Amino acid sequence: MAKVHILDHPLIQHKLSLIRDENTGSKDFRELVEEVAMLMAYEVTRDFPLQDVEVKTPVATMTAKAIAGRKVGLIPILRAGLGMVDGMLRLIPTAKVGHVGLYRDPETLKPVEYYCKLPTDVEERDLIVIDPMLATGGSAAAAITFLKDRGAKNIKLMCLIAAPEGIKEVHTYHDDVDIFVAAVDDYLNDHGYIIPGLGDAGDRLYGTK
Ligand code: URA
Repeated sequence: MAKVHILDHPLIQHKLSLIRDENTGSKDFRELVEEVAMLMAYEVTRDFPLQDVEVKTPVATMTAKAIAGRKVGLIPILRAGLGMVDGMLRLIPTAKVGHVGLYRDPETLKPVEYYCKLPTDVEERDLIVIDPMLATGGSAAAAITFLKDRGAKNIKLMCLIAAPEGIKEVHTYHDDVDIFVAAVDDYLNDHGYIIPGLGDAGDRLYGTK
């Protein structure tokens, strides 16, 4: 059974409060989201295995530790997921980045993929799907399904804020996917916004409102 990891580090929580504040403008919002993503990357990668490597310091030779050849793929869901990519790349610079774009079909209300460009070896990578606002969970669950259809096996989901409804939806379809989140908020309103949330993450990142 997959877990929900709430990342309650004081730096993450402090920065998240600034991100939520309606008075935080796009420039600061972008910088803070990037910083939180970097801090979250630290926790999301905590289970990466280490291997012994020999290192020569200026005064001795020692057996030190290095990450054991992990291949990572970051998969932001367009558009708001892009805001967390650079922060994660600061800590995992060798990660490859794939992009998934989805829209909701107005008749079926089902998510439809309109863009998908993935690393070619997706089945060998540890994938981190990035969706800052896990609202209904429909897009994240669909994106994960698309990745699995293309052979992906190891998938984690990273969000800034989740609604309980979104967590339930993702785990209903993907009970092998751990979710890493800075906060689980109260509920979704009738317009699909997370309450109290932070508003529309894409609009706040890119100043489109
Ligand atoms: N997407 C957002 O950007 N904000 C929400 O509150 C819900 C979905």
